[in-house]
Amino acid sequence: MLDIKKLARKEVFNFEPYVHGKPIDELKREFKIQDIYKLASNENSLGPSKKMAQKLTNVLLDVHRYPDPGCYDLRKLLVKKLAVLQENLLFGNGSDEIIELLGKAFLNKEDNIVTSAHSFIRYAMAADLMGAKVKNAKMTKDLVVDLTEMLKLIDENTKLVFIGNPNNPTGTYVKKQDFSEFMSKVPENVLVVMDEAYYEYAKDYPDYPDTLAMGYENLIVLRTFSKLFALAGLRIGYMIASFDIISVVERVRPPFNVNLIAQVAAVLSFGDKQHLQSTLEMNKDGMSYLSAEFDKMMVEYLPTITNFILFKTKIKGKDLFKKMLEQGVIIRSVDEYDLSDYARVTIGNNKENKIFIEVLKKVLT
Ligand SMILES: Cc1ncc(COP(=O)(O)O)c(C=O)c1O
Repeated sequence: MLDIKKLARKEVFNFEPYVHGKPIDELKREFKIQDIYKLASNENSLGPSKKMAQKLTNVLLDVHRYPDPGCYDLRKLLVKKLAVLQENLLFGNGSDEIIELLGKAFLNKEDNIVTSAHSFIRYAMAADLMGAKVKNAKMTKDLVVDLTEMLKLIDENTKLVFIGNPNNPTGTYVKKQDFSEFMSKVPENVLVVMDEAYYEYAKDYPDYPDTLAMGYENLIVLRTFSKLFALAGLRIGYMIASFDIISVVERVRPPFNVNLIAQVAAVLSFGDKQHLQSTLEMNKDGMSYLSAEFDKMMVEYLPTITNFILFKTKIKGKDLFKKMLEQGVIIRSVDEYDLSDYARVTIGNNKENKIFIEVLKKVLT
């Protein structure tokens, strides 16, 4: 009889498969409900830029061709926008893929990564897959990444340090001054990954570090088009780093990993300033509304600089998730982040936020 466990690399069983936000259609099939509100995956509830979507239809006529492996147009645009060189950029099928590529490119069994106890699970998975060790630093009592604790965990086998900034699922962030101090103490042969998936939501907050201006040779910055740019379904993210780092990761990047439609959509999305502005405004309004409602309900929540909020659930987060699911509202329980008394909700549009609060009230009383 086929013994698949024997055939597979044992590292494949080092981690539990990623738990994704429940897709809307899956819930429709399971519960036979038509009105579903998904606030589980920090997507942009405004939807994609309509200007972008209209122009995209022509691209469909080119899908018989492989995409540009170097993402030429997008690279050119980012060179201008970010004031970096072409060779400082690498593109991925979502920043998720780049996290995995970093593991593949740098981690051996004897190595370790340092990250935070309640940080995006994909960092640990990238290390687990390679058989490397994961060292989780405690966070502060306010659930902010604790850089001092991280420093303590770095040793001669540390290759990569992963910091979500802002951090998912807490929504909190490390400040510029703390980050500079941290970088001055990190050994130069340790690569520090700043995962800035929510950069566009966070960049104008006081003391949010402008990492690209800091010029560290061992710094890797990750960004994505999945969040503010509303392209989660197309899968495109990028990494900014020194040419030396990029050239290593390029060796493990699959050819044509970024599809044709995603490349064009990313360029076009950058151009629709109105859409980006409207998204920020929707998020700001949603954040005020949800915070005020949480206050009224005496629900504790963390201050956030993102498009999601981590809140205390009164009952187990998992149970709240299930009860809300039955009412057609998909939130995210965060058990796998060792936060079983919390849940995460994406800040949606007006209607979604209102329905979320209505259902939350109903479920908690
Ligand atoms: C902190 C963080 N990093 C990376 C990602 C992955 O984003 P992408 O859609 O670009 O793969 C997410 C998605 O939720 C995230 O929250």
